[in-house]
Formats: sequence, structure tokens, C-alpha cells
Amino acid sequence: MVETILITGANRGIGLALTKLSLIKNLNIEACFRDNKKSEELQELSLEHPNLNIHEMDVTNSESIKKISQNINFKVDILVCNAGVNNGKGDIFSKEHNEKAIMDVMMANVAGPFLTIKNFYKNLNVNHGAKIAIISSLMGSQQHSSSNAPIYRASKAAANNLMRTISNQFINDNVIVASYHPGWVRTDMGGSHADISPEESAEGLMKQFLNLKLNDTGKFFNYDGSILPL
Ligand SMILES: NC(=O)c1ccc[n+]([C@@H]2O[C@H](COP(=O)([O-])OP(=O)(O)OC[C@H]3O[C@@H](n4cnc5c(N)ncnc54)[C@H](OP(=O)(O)O)[C@@H]3O)[C@@H](O)[C@H]2O)c1
Repeated sequence: MVETILITGANRGIGLALTKLSLIKNLNIEACFRDNKKSEELQELSLEHPNLNIHEMDVTNSESIKKISQNINFKVDILVCNAGVNNGKGDIFSKEHNEKAIMDVMMANVAGPFLTIKNFYKNLNVNHGAKIAIISSLMGSQQHSSSNAPIYRASKAAANNLMRTISNQFINDNVIVASYHPGWVRTDMGGSHADISPEESAEGLMKQFLNLKLNDTGKFFNYDGSILPL
């Protein structure tokens, strides 16, 4: 059976790398993007590949998500909540942490996975052990001693907490929920000095998604499969 993967924030960075890798693996792909103008490569790919369906969707907007959840053709085996924002990197006194920046990060990184999972639950291939992967960050782990990016860290800690709570709710349905640190990745967010390429991150993440077992639910993993502290 060909598996179907749904990826949010699929137009650039890690999401686009996961989309391209899904094409190589011949999966059915429902790839979601927010902004037409930033999604040309994804749009071109969808013209070349009939197994790649693309959808305009903002993860902070329930109506936008519901519209897509009513229009996808396949039951989803792997739901990847990848879309995210980091627009405040300084410490607590940084001007970057204004109310709008705080709201944007919290809405995309916390409300985003919440609303995506809530509205796509009915699309999941529950009978075949569907999997939900939230792309979090090691920066959200409580085991750190840094003072930068407090709001981004808090948003990813909340995303991990959400993962735990939702995993408890879905365990009896055999739906697996886990969160992932994708590595420090050379994307617009990670910057050009980061450790690994989006392709290396996607390779590691995909291997983990495909091998996820019920026993893994509620856990926070690195892209190489090692367990991380929440
Ligand atoms: N890069 C790293 O080193 C790193 C490390 C740890 C965790 N992460 C996490 O990995 C994920 C992907 O990061 P990345 O490095 O690929 O970042 P990126 O290059 O900045 O891409 C972010 C993606 O999220 C999308 N997005 C943001 N807000 C959205 C919204 N409201 N609705 C729909 N899509 C939205 C963006 O769409 P637009 O193009 O429309 O803006 C873009 O596709 C994020 O959750 C990030 O926090 C990244």
C-alpha cells in the first residue's frame, strides 16, 4: 500500500526537502504552503508529479485548514506539522520580542500543530496506525542553560507538551504522536552556518517517521532517532 504523507510549510526549508524525499520514495503527498509567491518550486514540482497535491493553507487559521481537510483524496498515514516561525532571537530585553512577534511565534508553533491535528484527525488512516510528527526543536527542551530566544523556546516546549497530551488522547486509537528536533539545519531559519543540509535532516526524519512504533508515542526524538529530554 502506498502511504500518504501530509506536510505543512512544504514550500521551503525542511518541509520542501521532506516533500522532495517523499517523491523519491513514491509516497502520495499532500503538501501545504501558505503563500503562493514563495511557493514556485513546489508548484513546479506538482506539475511534474501526479502524486504531489498542493494546497494553500495557513496553520493558524481553522477555516483555511478545514477547507483543505474536506478536499484531500487520500487517508493520511503520516501527518507532519512542520510549519514554524522564529522571529525573536535575542534575550528577554530584545526589541524583537514585541507583542506581534510573540503572537506570531505562539500561533504558528503552538496553535498551528494543535489546529492542524484537530482538523485533520478525521483524515487519518486510523485503521492502519497513522502517525503524527510535530517538528519541534531542542531549543524547547527544559534541559538547557541559554537565555536567547525565550519565546521561541517556550513555543517549542509547549509544542512538546502538546505532543504528550495529544499522544495520551490518541493512544487507544493506535495513532502515534511524537515530536522531533530536525537538527540545526541550513534553512532561512537555521542560517547558512548551521550543521546539516535540509536534505540530511529530511533523510533522518523520514527514516524515523517510517519506522515509528506505538511504543514511541509521547516521545521527543532527534532526527537521527536518539531520544531527547523534554
Ligand atoms: N532550521 C533549523 O535549524 C531548525 C531547528 C530546529 C527546529 N526547526 C523547526 O523546523 C521547522 C521548519 O523550519 P525551517 O528551518 O524549514 O524554517 P523556514 O525555512 O523558515 O520555513 C518555515 C516554513 O514554515 C511555514 N510557515 C510559517 N508560518 C506558517 C503558517 N502560519 N502557515 C503555514 N505555513 C507557515 C513557512 O511558510 P512561508 O514560506 O509562507 O513563510 C515555511 O514554509 C520549524 O517548525 C522550525 O521551528 C528548525
